[in-house]
Amino acid sequence: MQMTIALAKGRLAEKAMEILEKCGIECREMSGNSRKLIFYDKKNDIRFIMVKPTDVPTYVDHGVADMGIVGKDTLMEAGLPLYEMADLKYGKCRLVVAGYPSKKDNSLTTSILRVATKYPEIAKKYYAAKGASVECIKLSGSVELGPMLGLSDVILDIVESGRTLNENGLKIMEEVCDVSARLAVNRSSLKIKAGVIQPLIERIQCAVEDS
Ligand code: PRP
Repeated sequence: MQMTIALAKGRLAEKAMEILEKCGIECREMSGNSRKLIFYDKKNDIRFIMVKPTDVPTYVDHGVADMGIVGKDTLMEAGLPLYEMADLKYGKCRLVVAGYPSKKDNSLTTSILRVATKYPEIAKKYYAAKGASVECIKLSGSVELGPMLGLSDVILDIVESGRTLNENGLKIMEEVCDVSARLAVNRSSLKIKAGVIQPLIERIQCAVEDS
């Protein structure tokens, strides 16, 4: 029975392929410079689709892909009912709130806090849990510019090395959660294709433990 795996293009892709190769899955065709979007491992009857990270949960939720590999931040933001079957323990970073702590104590301000972020859903939930009203300003990248140019008071964003914050004079003010790459599985596929999906999940879990 054929299985489809959605892989996030970009910084998580190479490492995802490394893990899959360890599980005996043929990924070489994908790791070159090809602009193709669909690849096959004929031996294992697996089809791969290369998509934007934010689209991985969508393909898996609709069952077009049986499983996908993507960051926890993207899964949280999508908020879809997928099964998260493994923490792949790479692509580690943190979701944080950052800004200029000295400018004003943003947590005590009476005016509504303006939060620039690529993650408006995560931000809304995070601040709702604290009982704070915020205005989320959705950006697609270079979020750090928000407080620098007065578009927002703070950002809610991922931090990996901390370099982008440092080089733009911003400081971490709150830690939201840790992030890493995850294996997300479609709920129906897990039942209907259990015979092929379960063994692969186990192989992936073992490959992660061994690395
Ligand atoms: C991400 C994130 C930060 C940066 C953090 O952006 O939004 O800007 O990486 O990494 P660092 O802590 O190692 O500096 P990305 O590189 O994905 O680009 P983008 O701003 O275009 O989204």
